[in-house]
Amino acid sequence: MANFNTVAGCVLASALFAMVLGKVSNALVHPHKLDKPAIAVTDAVPETAAAAAPAELAPIEPKLAGANAEAGKAVFMKQCFTCHTTDKGGANKIGPNLWAVVGRKKASHAGFSYSSGLQAKGGDWGVEDINHMVVKPTAFVKGTKMAFAGLPKEQERADVIAYLKTLGP
Ligand code: HEC
Repeated sequence: MANFNTVAGCVLASALFAMVLGKVSNALVHPHKLDKPAIAVTDAVPETAAAAAPAELAPIEPKLAGANAEAGKAVFMKQCFTCHTTDKGGANKIGPNLWAVVGRKKASHAGFSYSSGLQAKGGDWGVEDINHMVVKPTAFVKGTKMAFAGLPKEQERADVIAYLKTLGP
């Protein structure tokens, strides 16, 4: 028993010593490192900027005249088709079928279980709303199920939207 206590005591002592040592070396080393992290923290603040970004998104409508639906289809096949079909009556996959989605009521495709955020959004899918959805879904629809990083390139968004406009009656 005594032996066990000695061993346990030793373990505890070394653990404490390691902790103290860590604290002391932190205290010694930190002052030199502080400059950079302090700046990084201020830099990392643009939460408001990120939140404001969607509102600043330039309208896509003026870009649609010069957009290329064929190129948009190629982008769609690469970026969206994993989750969305586009044929009339096509299946819902991870995301809802997107036949005639331009002008369609939001969160309205039969048989798809939408997030409450998208259900609460209201209105129809105009091209500007689709532009916002596609550039950053999480910023446009709170709690969206569309786990997609976004299409940062305006030309690609214009092309994809031009393609979506070709799908419909
Ligand atoms: C990882 C899967 C995934 C990818 C990739 C994806 N989406 Fe989605 N999309 C979804 C899901 C899931 C929803 C339903 C969102 C919700 O309920 O919040 C959705 C919803 C939508 C809607 C609204 C449909 C409706 O009926 O209201 C549009 C428009 C849309 N996506 C377009 C696109 C486009 C265009 C792309 C490619 C640039 C794309 N999505 C890529 C999963 C995806």
